[in-house]
Amino acid sequence: MGIETSCDETAVGIVKNGTEILSNTIQSSLILHKKTQGVVPEVAARDAFSKILSVVDTSLSEANCTWADIDIMACTNGPGLAGSLMVGIETARTLAYIYDKPLVPVQHISGHMYSNVLGRDIPRFPVLVLTVSGGHNNLILWKNYFEFELLGETLDDASGEAFDKVGKMLGLDFPGGPEIEKLAKKGNPKAFDFPRPMAQKSNLDFSYSGIKTAMVNQLRKIPELTDQVRADLAASFQEAVVESLLIKLKKAHKIHKTTTIYLSGGVSCNERLQQIIKNYCDKIGVELYCPIQKILSTDNGAMIASAGYFKYNHLKSDWNYKNTEMNLSHDLV
Ligand code: KG4
Ligand code: ZN
Repeated sequence: MGIETSCDETAVGIVKNGTEILSNTIQSSLILHKKTQGVVPEVAARDAFSKILSVVDTSLSEANCTWADIDIMACTNGPGLAGSLMVGIETARTLAYIYDKPLVPVQHISGHMYSNVLGRDIPRFPVLVLTVSGGHNNLILWKNYFEFELLGETLDDASGEAFDKVGKMLGLDFPGGPEIEKLAKKGNPKAFDFPRPMAQKSNLDFSYSGIKTAMVNQLRKIPELTDQVRADLAASFQEAVVESLLIKLKKAHKIHKTTTIYLSGGVSCNERLQQIIKNYCDKIGVELYCPIQKILSTDNGAMIASAGYFKYNHLKSDWNYKNTEMNLSHDLV
């Protein structure tokens, strides 16, 4: 069983052998955050607190399981919002103690990395991973269960955060990512010229704060924000973000020529992003994996359960996390 409460979702998933999804229950506090057009940490934590036990029960019944069927408990231990994390961690600690299960702490981004094994097979090491979300934006060379090399990360905002903030500027609902994608379908991606952030830099890091400023500047220049202009802005912005992600992925793959690339995190739901990365992968003969369902790209409990399963089974020999022992380090493992 995996418990994920790092942001605005209260999520519990149950998986078998690390890859087969038995249940993946998610209660989002999105409705509350739509009003504020962004996540309010205190609101998210209180919402998770009120829902977590019923989400655990629903997940067990959807999986047709009882506690006797659960071998390992896993929970996200960071990074994320402190209050929300604490709800998941304390719930997992208590349940692991009561039902006498080993408890595995899972780093949130490593959870996203495992989302690509769900419904498939064990990780295809070595694999180049682009994980893109509201809170993180990383390029990782995943060499083995406990061997990761962080190749690049964002120096400021993550791409999802940029989608959300630009969505707000365009008067769209929260979260901005899916809304911008919808609007972009009606727009011209060449109508406005947005920068491809960090494209000229030889490193593999990202930056998305400048592109938000570029949008503010564009909006100041536009006399009338008609529906077509908004669609053109959305399409041009989306194109700049996805191209900048592709530029860095290409650079990383020139150095680390893996036969498989994983795309994960909320922004990986974006069909334009999937399309341009797929075109690139087809051209160079690399296999691209995206999570098999959109629900697996965004935060969910099944990915945490999967990561917990593989961590536990590959580190069993010197396992010391039994019951209440929690390693609160945010290292990738
Ligand atoms: O992985 P996730 O659920 O949470 C974090 O770990 O941050 O990702 C949420 C992010 C939000 O910023 C959201 O706008 C973005 O993923 N997102 C998208 C799309 N769907 C979700 N961004 C672009 N296009 C989408 N279709
Ligand atoms: Zn996430």
